[in-house]
Amino acid sequence: METLLNVKGLKTHIHTPEGVVRAVDGVDFEINKGEIVGIIGESGCGKSMTALSILRLLPSKAKVSGEILYRENDLLKYSPSQMREIRGKGISMIFQDPVTSLNPVFTVGNQICEAIILHQKISKSAAVEKAIEMLGLCGLPSPEEQFNRYPHQLSGGMNQRIMIAMSLVTHPEILIADEPTTALDVTIQAQILDLIQHLQTKLTMSVLLITHDLSIISAITKRVIIMYAGKIVEYARTNQIFTAVKNPASLLHPYTRGLINSIPNIDFTSAKDESPPLTSVSKRLNTIPGVVPNPMDILAGCRFHPRCPNAVQRCREIEPEIRLYGEDHGIRCFELREYSTS
Ligand SMILES: Nc1ncnc2c1ncn2[C@@H]1O[C@H](COP(=O)(O)OP(=O)(O)O)[C@@H](O)[C@H]1O
Ligand code: SF4
Ligand SMILES: [Mg+2]
Repeated sequence: METLLNVKGLKTHIHTPEGVVRAVDGVDFEINKGEIVGIIGESGCGKSMTALSILRLLPSKAKVSGEILYRENDLLKYSPSQMREIRGKGISMIFQDPVTSLNPVFTVGNQICEAIILHQKISKSAAVEKAIEMLGLCGLPSPEEQFNRYPHQLSGGMNQRIMIAMSLVTHPEILIADEPTTALDVTIQAQILDLIQHLQTKLTMSVLLITHDLSIISAITKRVIIMYAGKIVEYARTNQIFTAVKNPASLLHPYTRGLINSIPNIDFTSAKDESPPLTSVSKRLNTIPGVVPNPMDILAGCRFHPRCPNAVQRCREIEPEIRLYGEDHGIRCFELREYSTS
């Protein structure tokens, strides 16, 4: 499979007067052509900072190191104007909150046309045509009418569709969707995720989907990366993770196990390679005791040790590396135990 994006040893440290925030602290992953990869983790684990680092949309006090190879070119070496070319045309992003991402003083149609004209040398009237076509593709009823509306005249779900239209109208190879449905109610969430999935197939894009919601991961991703306190603690094929939870002999990172156990009522075992239908149940991850550490204040040893039921002395002293358990499965843990059903 062709690798489009290869992130190697990514560190994003934000220098603040109070100290250095190690928001992303040595992250490696790949995105292949045409696949949907999920990143999951509780709030504050560094998911958004990972996404923003890829597009170099970071606060000025952020220092980034490592490599972000897009088609084998390191984006960290690109000039600001080269990055503007990449954003939109190569890699584009949908943010969590459409209201703050759209400009309230321009019509949505105008904003989409601007995105087109920035990347393609086409006439205004051709851009209008493309914009209306994309609005239709994104499921907006009467796209010609919506074109002339302002963001405040549309619902949250419609504005999120506008954001999606805007990020896809330039046909990016990779779409990064950072919690694209968190601000929306469950029914609209399901529609937006169906839309992303539909457009991903139709336009053969790769998608990096960031969420703290396991039902979304199970419904539309093929591979999943689990982040904790700025690091990847586990990666696997999505179906491996969800079938593992029912199999006592399987190995999972204790954090992943905690995430899955925090939503006991959903049957994830339907997750399989042919994209299971999106469950309409969507719950927050909130039942692992303790909290994600402040990235300014990371303790020695395994970052999860204060919350881990399996922790032993070594976990408090030495940081584990990722070990491979099969071709696509890596876990950062010393003390993996088989799952107990009792
Ligand atoms: N502009 C910033 N200045 C300082 N710290 C920040 C800034 N943005 C994010 N952080 C911190 O970086 C860490 C990772 O944040 P983020 O990537 O937004 O997490 P997630 O998306 O997983 O919820 C958090 O501890 C957050 O408080
Ligand atoms: S290394 Fe130790 S503390 Fe960390 S997840 Fe594994 S058992 Fe828990
Ligand atoms: Mg975030």
